[in-house]
Amino acid sequence: MRLDRFLANLPCYNRQQVRLLLAHKRVRVDGQVTDDPRTEVRVFSQVEVDGQLLHSGPPARYLMLHKPAGCVSATVDGEHRTVLDLLPEPLREGLHIAGRLDFNTTGLLLLTNDGQWSRRLTQPRTKQPKTYWVETENVIEAHYVERFREGFYFAFEDLTTLPAQLDILAPRKARLTLFEGRYHQVKRMFGHFDNKVTALHRERMGAIVLDAELAPGQFRPLTAAEIASV
Ligand code: URA
Repeated sequence: MRLDRFLANLPCYNRQQVRLLLAHKRVRVDGQVTDDPRTEVRVFSQVEVDGQLLHSGPPARYLMLHKPAGCVSATVDGEHRTVLDLLPEPLREGLHIAGRLDFNTTGLLLLTNDGQWSRRLTQPRTKQPKTYWVETENVIEAHYVERFREGFYFAFEDLTTLPAQLDILAPRKARLTLFEGRYHQVKRMFGHFDNKVTALHRERMGAIVLDAELAPGQFRPLTAAEIASV
């Protein structure tokens, strides 16, 4: 919502007063003085007039979870346990998943109630790297590397995947970095060679790396630096 509308909606100010507050530089949004009535006030914005906090939305929450195999990346599921079931009840309210993982995929899962933050992390447009450790049924051949770099045509979405970096670690093991997150993307890419993915683990999203201290099923809040990195 625009700042002038936000202020005028409060019981204490009318439109004329709002104009004066802004003109006299008495308003700060997220710590910055602003006289621009079009400044965006978001759900987590802190709005101050004369140093008095008027609006502080619901506290933003950002969590990293080491997703174990055998649970669904969803907030509710009639059949299986979900990743939210791994969190204490009071923490769950309003959380969504920033980049789902398949039922048997393990590793870094980020949960937040801040939709803008999660969009920045997951939208292909922002090209945030996502790194996976992959194990396959058959040998990963050297020529795969170039094919991953060229991209694969996904008929369902009618698109070609962005160049991806494949590092072969062992005959059937690789590290793969993608710059987007399409449905079942890793499995579909290896499926192109009829090579089944037998284990998949996400190590990193953007600059956020799965904390080695977290056992499968454990979580921790993100640090200020991790939040700011997105
Ligand atoms: N790609 C997949 O195929 N599965 C995942 O869980 C994540 C990426």
